[in-house]
Amino acid sequence: MSQNLDKLKNKIAEAHKGGGEKRIAKQHEKKKLTARERVNYLLDENSFEEIGILVTHRTTDFGMDKQKYYGDGVITGYGTINGRLVYVFAQDFTVFGGSLSETHAEKICKIMDMAVKVGAPVIGLNDSGGARIQEGVKSLGGYADIFHRNVKASGVIPQISAIMGPCAGGAVYSPAMTDFTLMVEDTSYMFVTGPNVVKTVTNEEVTSEELGGASTHSTKSGVTHITAANDIICLENIKQLISYMPQNNQTPPEKLEYILGDEHREVLESIVPDNSHKPYDMHEVIKGIIDDDSFFEIHKDYADNIIVGFSRIGGRSVGIIANQPMSLAGVLDVDSSKKAARFTRFCDCFNIPLLVLVDVPGFLPGTDQEWNGIILHGAKLLYALSEATVPKVTVITRKAYGGAYDVMNSKHIGADFNFAWPTAEIAVMGAKGASEIIFRKEIADAEDPEKKLAEKEAEYAEKFATPFEAAQRGFIDEVIMPKDTRRKLIKAFSALENKHVLRPNRKHGNIPL
Ligand code: HXC
Repeated sequence: MSQNLDKLKNKIAEAHKGGGEKRIAKQHEKKKLTARERVNYLLDENSFEEIGILVTHRTTDFGMDKQKYYGDGVITGYGTINGRLVYVFAQDFTVFGGSLSETHAEKICKIMDMAVKVGAPVIGLNDSGGARIQEGVKSLGGYADIFHRNVKASGVIPQISAIMGPCAGGAVYSPAMTDFTLMVEDTSYMFVTGPNVVKTVTNEEVTSEELGGASTHSTKSGVTHITAANDIICLENIKQLISYMPQNNQTPPEKLEYILGDEHREVLESIVPDNSHKPYDMHEVIKGIIDDDSFFEIHKDYADNIIVGFSRIGGRSVGIIANQPMSLAGVLDVDSSKKAARFTRFCDCFNIPLLVLVDVPGFLPGTDQEWNGIILHGAKLLYALSEATVPKVTVITRKAYGGAYDVMNSKHIGADFNFAWPTAEIAVMGAKGASEIIFRKEIADAEDPEKKLAEKEAEYAEKFATPFEAAQRGFIDEVIMPKDTRRKLIKAFSALENKHVLRPNRKHGNIPL
């Protein structure tokens, strides 16, 4: 008995050493934490319970029977983050470069299955050379087993992926199917085919960092939602991200206690400039509405003509989607539509109410946009917001023009409360464009066409560049003063707390992907 116990202790001690001290030192040299250090940092102290620490691979080919490491290159288990249960896997680069064997995949699948069964988030810390080359198709099958589980768990439990080292080939598709992908700057990369293959096939010379580093994926492709300067910041970001989410799709997100106080925010009165062509920073509006320092921006550096992120309003977790007049005047284009649609769908899956702040001059015109499918991508946002059944509240701060008025959570597509500031302009198009079309003849026949155009513009603006016409029709529930916005929203989200929508039975809708 005591001999067995000693053996067990030795094996566990060995497992804790991963691929050995030299490889751990190499990991640290690269400014990366080890898998075990990451798990320990992520979870509450002493909360981690490891599952499968004694698992080893089964391959005997290529001398693999002589090289076995307990755990087989991935640490799996569960623990808590601020008291909340989460399941975690962390690939251990010190063991066969964190490569994925059949057993490595089985360990990940096991904790994913458990997470779904009990309704808890799954967090994957990826750091891997990809498919375990010595295992061939068994490894590929292991990846597919994970992919299939990612899809089955989608919309049931939150899934978060952090890329903290290499992630190449088909391995990228598991993170891509999870809800959020974080990347560490300089030490991580993701691509379907690496620089060598790129060079052979397309003759392009590109580094790993240029091809698939954190900066590339946070600005160009939008594959990553959040980047962090190092492992620690990345893990802190995961903790914060998870705080806005519920455990699963059957539970509401955590609500912090909040007592209504003086909610007037005078600062909101002076943000929108008098000249409606002048930009302003929508972040300032968000700041004036939400609970202090509670905004956590997603996709910050991608398609910055729209802002999306989580925050708290009166202690409630809320997803915010907001046009940003500082970038491209806040137009909707291909990338911003995709960005906001994806975020909307996450919030809707997980019972997070939506606040939409509108200042949108329309869709971006041009061949680039049309040829890249703005029709389809714009439809994604329209579909996603229309489909969402969580509480949905809109505030129009300034422009709401054309189709974009409809898309941006209008009453017509199911928003619950629609507010507008007195500065709102709700119309088919801007006064100048509209006047040039509908008064073309009158302007052309005038003695002074320019003067006539200005007159007509003023006439049109008087009628339509206001929220009052929309309010008269009930498309706007109330025209509110900016300083009252926070109070109105706290009350609106509270009134919507028990919103419940029954939908007709169907397998699933057909969002224009
Ligand atoms: C087995 C691997 C491995 C792999 C790395 N190692 N990748 N072992 N299978 N895929 C081992 C190395 O042999 C080495 O072992 C240790 O891990 C560390 O690797 P290094 O090369 O020393 O590290 P580094 O210089 O940091 O380079 C990391 C790397 C490189 C860029 C990831 O290892 C690499 O190119 N690996 C191969 C990547 C690859 O082609 N994978 C298959 C992709 S296709 P020792 O014993 O020396 O420490 C794929 C398909 C998935 O993944 C399909 C899913 C559907």
